[in-house]
Amino acid sequence: MRPWIATALLAGWFTATLPAQEISALPPPVPEVLRSIRAADTGRLAVSEEDGRFLRVLVATRGATSVLEIGAANGYSGIWLGLGARETGGRVVAIEYDPGRATEAAANIRRAGLTDVVRIVQGDAFAEIPRLAGMFDFVFLDAWKPDYKKFFDLVYPRLAPGGVFVAHNVVNKKNEMEPFLRTILTHPALFTTIVSPSHEGMSISYKTR
Ligand SMILES: C[S@@+](CC[C@H](N)C(=O)[O-])C[C@H]1O[C@@H](n2cnc3c(N)ncnc32)[C@H](O)[C@@H]1O
Repeated sequence: MRPWIATALLAGWFTATLPAQEISALPPPVPEVLRSIRAADTGRLAVSEEDGRFLRVLVATRGATSVLEIGAANGYSGIWLGLGARETGGRVVAIEYDPGRATEAAANIRRAGLTDVVRIVQGDAFAEIPRLAGMFDFVFLDAWKPDYKKFFDLVYPRLAPGGVFVAHNVVNKKNEMEPFLRTILTHPALFTTIVSPSHEGMSISYKTR
């Protein structure tokens, strides 16, 4: 057998034997809450499970303590951000415009046992962000895509040096946010990379100064 065939077969065997990353490995009742949000999410608003997992790791590894989410919907991504912030002793403020979704998000955060970590704010984020105090060290943007550049301009002065700005759907909806993408990819004070844990894509921009 040629060596590369043996290597490929071995790699396949190792991959096949890796354990799946089950959400049931999360502390109860979080898996049940995540499943129920997804089951009710007929509009497919929530990020994928893989993107949620990635957000949790990003918040925890950044050591983020002041997290802002713009566009919370029913709280699915807010739970993943909250699980990351629980590791750091941090707090998440998650803003949602739609009153019904904001109420649902707050209930889901409560069911997940994360009320001490995640606060849902109902309102237009353009009005609510200026009312929040202090700087952010982690921002997750997942609102209306043509607004991304305006949100970036609003939040950038409040992003601490060393902070991280993450935006969702930068692959599957890139045509709806061209000015935003051009800005983060050419900004002199940002290191930006685009990753795609699922097909939707996330930009991760690190503020260097
Ligand atoms: C794709 S969904 C967010 C999904 C959520 N991040 C998750 O993964 O569970 C986008 C949400 O942004 C909200 N939104 C859009 N524009 C907004 C604004 N200006 N202020 C607050 N929320 C906004 C919408 O109402 C909608 O619920």
